[in-house]
Amino acid sequence: GKVAVLFGGHSAEREVSLRSGAAVLAALQKQGIDAHAFDPKTQALTELLSAGFDRVFIVLHGRGGEDGTMQGALELLGLPYTGSRVLGSALAMDKIRCKWLFQAQGLPTAPFRVAKTSTAPDHAAMLSALNGKVMVKPANEGSSIGMSAASTAAELQQALDTAFAYDSDVLVEQWIQGREFTVSVLNGKALPVVEMRTPRSFYDYEAKYKSDSTQYLCPAPLTDEQTASLQQAAVAAFQAVGASGWGRVDAMLDQAGNFYLLEVNTVPGMTEKSLVPMAAKAAGLSFEQLVVEILEQTL
Ligand code: DAL
Ligand code: MG
Repeated sequence: GKVAVLFGGHSAEREVSLRSGAAVLAALQKQGIDAHAFDPKTQALTELLSAGFDRVFIVLHGRGGEDGTMQGALELLGLPYTGSRVLGSALAMDKIRCKWLFQAQGLPTAPFRVAKTSTAPDHAAMLSALNGKVMVKPANEGSSIGMSAASTAAELQQALDTAFAYDSDVLVEQWIQGREFTVSVLNGKALPVVEMRTPRSFYDYEAKYKSDSTQYLCPAPLTDEQTASLQQAAVAAFQAVGASGWGRVDAMLDQAGNFYLLEVNTVPGMTEKSLVPMAAKAAGLSFEQLVVEILEQTL
């Protein structure tokens, strides 16, 4: 049948999605699959039906594509789609609710506060409750957009102002000094762990998509025990938020050797620099094989 590859969209991650989607589309076509680009920013969703598409590969990042709304629309249109269903998509998109679910399941995650306004009652008190340094994140963004670190009350004010430009709910998370990892999940199983190393203060938008100085280590240099425990936690986190199909769980390792789960991504990046394709490759799966496996989730 005819496959629509949904990419682009309206979110702040549109540019990333355009890159991810182009790669997925090319890989599907290379496999002889009748796949076509579809951008919900410029095309009405009902055109999916009138153009005769049978199924949908979602490569939209962020709001309107990864957050359950598109998944709900496709359910109502009766079109099978890749990845998480409505609930898992919506919960995974929200970093605050992700962390509540991690906590409820006894999964490790850094201490945090929720800010509803940038004039939080007492910035200094919030900072000291979170060990003096925090990472401030819009609850429903991706690719590190709107995120900044803060270790003074003035920096926290600035970081909150930045985050509130993107969202009405902001996560203020205790800073974890240490190493960054990600675990890709495909059809219920963890793929090899990737470690990301950047000379920047964290793995931000620049380090993710622009910089040549980001290093990727896959399989990550961890002990077998650490790898197994991180992979197990990632799969548990994926299940805790009700995600399914494929995705990626991000985590940190502090200097004392403790892992902390950051979040779940239900439509992770599929660009040439992205992490799921890297992990798949380490598991012996080419980019083309990976996209075909994901597409089979629609059957
Ligand atoms: N939000 C970006 C696309 C990722 O998780 O890879
Ligand atoms: Mg994310």
